[in-house]
Amino acid sequence: MEKKSIPLFTERKRIVRSVPLLILMLCLSLCTCAMADSFDDDGMLRLVNREEKITKHYAPDDLVLPDVPTNKKGQKNSIYMRPEAAEALEELFAGALEDEYTLLAVSGYRSYSTQYALFQQKVESVGSKEAAQRTVAPPGASEHQLGLAMDLVSDTFRNLNRAFLETDEGKWVNDHCWEYGFIIRYRAEWSGVTGYKAEPWHIRYLGREHAQAVTELNIPYEEYAAQMRLLPEYVLTYGTAALFEGLYADLISGEYEMIEVLENSVFDAGSENNALQSVTVYYEERNTVTEDALTP
Ligand code: DAL
Ligand code: ZN
Repeated sequence: MEKKSIPLFTERKRIVRSVPLLILMLCLSLCTCAMADSFDDDGMLRLVNREEKITKHYAPDDLVLPDVPTNKKGQKNSIYMRPEAAEALEELFAGALEDEYTLLAVSGYRSYSTQYALFQQKVESVGSKEAAQRTVAPPGASEHQLGLAMDLVSDTFRNLNRAFLETDEGKWVNDHCWEYGFIIRYRAEWSGVTGYKAEPWHIRYLGREHAQAVTELNIPYEEYAAQMRLLPEYVLTYGTAALFEGLYADLISGEYEMIEVLENSVFDAGSENNALQSVTVYYEERNTVTEDALTP
């Protein structure tokens, strides 16, 4: 049968009619994306610690199994993660392998009840809750419950031990994990803030831009989150590492000019984009931050 050609006019009308729908779909997808990066509930930036606990009912509903090797046979059930983090983990392991380092996954998502059991075991072995919580998070306080953290070792060093940082693989993870969107969450020098001893084997997914900013700023995530929570959500979602570093420095020095530019653009998608671009250029030209500005 001969195909009927649609008159150009009708075609145009159809396109014009579907524009509002397309805009609505775009807005909805931007909102979903922005939510995924926020500090709330299912956001990649969610801060969890002993002060900011997760309810025992929280479990991500999208956990997947990253395709990476594990330390022990049968450990696959322990390494589930949220999809974005799982994909980044696969890339991290592949990056390490390119440099001839074999990383092994040990522990990813842990439910509230698994964390409860781990914590109880630790309390029994060390004798008190105070001592136990220097190394194991109490139930509800572990970011493993988010599905955004992974404990890892290597084929040459298979213990979750601080000496991992002295191995070539541990150094590689320490130096490169931000490139894949992860941070080393617990460093020795931050234990006064985080409450934990150093854990060079525990990496936390934040997404590339935030991981880079936290790493370059060299601050505990508690500090970063305290400042960055003040920013509009679209900034957190679409900002670059340079922008975050610049904004962080301004927030701690009480300089709000650029932040106000961004805040005033929140309800208009077009102006949000312009504001984001101009503030990004401002920080890139300023070459982000100075050492002084970074000392809170
Ligand atoms: N070891 C870390 C702090 C946890 O239990 O989540
Ligand atoms: Zn861990």
